[in-house]
Amino acid sequence: MCGIVGYVGPKLAAPILLDGLRRLEYRGYDSAGVALVDGPTITVHKEVGKVAMVQAVVPADAPGHTGIAHTRWATHGGVTQANAHPHTDMELGIAVVHNGIIDNDEALRQRLSAAGVEFRSETDTEVLPHLIRHHYKGDPTQAVIDALKEVRGTYGVVVAFAEHPGVMVAARLGSPLVIGLGEDENFIASDPHALVRYTRRVIYLEDRELATITADGVESVHLDGSEALHTVEELEAAFGTGDKGEFEHYMLKEIHEQPESIGRCLRGRVQPEAGTARLGGFDLLPRDLTEIPSVTIMGCGTSFHAAMLGAMAIEQVARVPARAVIASEFRWSNPQIDPKGLYLAVSQSGETADTLGAIKEVTTKGGKVLGVVNVVGSSIARLCGSGVYIHSGPEVAVASTKAFTSQISAMYLFTLMLGRTLTLAPNEAQHLARSLADLPEMVRAYLGNPGPIQEAVRHLVNARYVLFMGRGLSWPVALEGALKLKELAYIPCEAYAAGEMKHGPIAMMEEGTPVIVIVPSDANRERTLSNMREVQARGAALIVIHSRGDHQAASLAAVSIPVPRVHPLLTPMVTVLPLQLLSYQAALAMGRDIDMPRNLAKSVTVE
Ligand code: M6R
Repeated sequence: MCGIVGYVGPKLAAPILLDGLRRLEYRGYDSAGVALVDGPTITVHKEVGKVAMVQAVVPADAPGHTGIAHTRWATHGGVTQANAHPHTDMELGIAVVHNGIIDNDEALRQRLSAAGVEFRSETDTEVLPHLIRHHYKGDPTQAVIDALKEVRGTYGVVVAFAEHPGVMVAARLGSPLVIGLGEDENFIASDPHALVRYTRRVIYLEDRELATITADGVESVHLDGSEALHTVEELEAAFGTGDKGEFEHYMLKEIHEQPESIGRCLRGRVQPEAGTARLGGFDLLPRDLTEIPSVTIMGCGTSFHAAMLGAMAIEQVARVPARAVIASEFRWSNPQIDPKGLYLAVSQSGETADTLGAIKEVTTKGGKVLGVVNVVGSSIARLCGSGVYIHSGPEVAVASTKAFTSQISAMYLFTLMLGRTLTLAPNEAQHLARSLADLPEMVRAYLGNPGPIQEAVRHLVNARYVLFMGRGLSWPVALEGALKLKELAYIPCEAYAAGEMKHGPIAMMEEGTPVIVIVPSDANRERTLSNMREVQARGAALIVIHSRGDHQAASLAAVSIPVPRVHPLLTPMVTVLPLQLLSYQAALAMGRDIDMPRNLAKSVTVE
């Protein structure tokens, strides 16, 4: 959840570290800090708040050509300056930044305290510099190896030594680190976003590996001391530079990127003439497809909502039993795993700890998991080994938008492939394939003419709570709309399958309660219209998202938001767009921090 960046080379480290921190800030933004190696002790600047707070106290010409930096999302210990990283040993000779959790920190703390160490923070991380100091006998690499042998837990850790300016030692177990290779300079970060401005040549550290990084090169070993071999990878062009461009916020930029991001996901995969899709990464031949007994799709948050849509589509179209499971529940539920079943793990970041845990649970029990992942080279992509990249490009805003529509696109491609093999007549499959291929234009058409979003926002900003409802494929869309409004605007809201309203939630209806209804023209439309009349009769103000030309749905609405007519299976791809804009505009009107909502972080790398 936190961000790490490090530099070694001929340039001043501080500006590079601060730039990297700004790019990683979306991963966590409680506090931040920088450690610069220059002279007999390490200089540390750290502050509570966003990276700008640290930037304000680090002189532009701060000396030091080696440095490490961190932006934090608090786990152990409150949000205080003392708890911010980097942490140092008592002599200020060793500085550490760390992502992950040290499980045995209490025992290590007691032992080190008994040996005279005075702790200055409440963090688990602070045991590391003291422990490394305890093992240090002149060789920085060996000291880190020996210290980590005593550590239980997870880490992506980078260490700097005053006695060794020009050296960083980094190690990984369960928390990602990527080394960026430059000309006579090298970098390290928890996320390639911090590196793309400087280099596209990277090495991903694997679990239980340690690297000693200097300006001239990188030497890596396994923690048992054996040599570790790496291939240098090139960050793909779609990685972009991660800037906001003409937009005020990353979220708005990412909403408007959806025609291109969906197009990238579909391109070269959807085959309209053949009425099928090619997903090379799945490596499944038609014969393999006929033998899949069931599909289980795992994810958290927005990725879980995409998983719900994937499962519904697969079951409805290909007639294969399919379910979506919340990874954080599934992993601890002692699930039955069918080794012949197909398991998919959906994740934008590819680093979500609970989704990683669910994958391990499946593989431990003999199952195979394929990834549906955005970030190339991420932990989930590597753990799964095969799957599809959704190619959204970098998603920086904490609220997921373009990844959601690309995740759905990828799973719809699989649905088409499976359906063409198992159930669909050629003309039905061609119709679906053509409709998929048309999606980027449909999305572009909506975003060019989004309807009365501001009028709807007026109903939301003073609401005590907001209800969302939809049936069938529109139910996960309702859940996603409610999640977006909660995380961005902090308005209490709930989403219900529309038929469930009268089993309880309708009791909440008061005069003017905003109810957002997703009612595209699909097989559920009539039933949802009835539910709309039920809540309207109790005073609700309906904000209705419906297919263009549906005058009946529009006539029930206080605010009517039409979306393009698409194939019924594809309606979530257009109905979610006004919900993304609504939450964005409501949050803006309420003065919220849109790209970095309170208490959240982009990648949830802790349980
Ligand atoms: O990176 P992942 O897709 O695995 O992340 C899962 C959730 O943490 C994420 O979707 C979260 O719910 C978003 N902030 C929602 O906008």
